[in-house]
Amino acid sequence: MLELCVCIGSSCHIKGSYNVIQTFQQLIEEKKLHDKINFKSSFCQKQCQHPGVAVSVNNVVFQVTAETAGDFFVREVSTKT
Ligand code: FES
Repeated sequence: MLELCVCIGSSCHIKGSYNVIQTFQQLIEEKKLHDKINFKSSFCQKQCQHPGVAVSVNNVVFQVTAETAGDFFVREVSTKT
C-alpha cells in the first residue's frame, strides 16, 4: 500500500494544502484507488522554507501546489499503485 501524506501545518495550509487534499481525494475517487493508497495528513514536515505544500509519498517529500496537484498525482502516485 502506498502512503500519501499531505502537510496541514500552518505554513502549508496558507500555501493551499486544503486544495491539494481536495484534488487528491477527487482523483482517488475517480481512479478507485481507496484500497491502494493510505491517504493521510500530517503536521509540519519541516519543509516550510520551500514554496509548495509538503507532500510525501512513501516518506519521500515533494513540493506540490494546487495547480500542480493533478499532474503530480498522475506522475508520482497513481503510476506507483
Ligand atoms: S507547515 Fe508544512 S512543512 Fe511546515
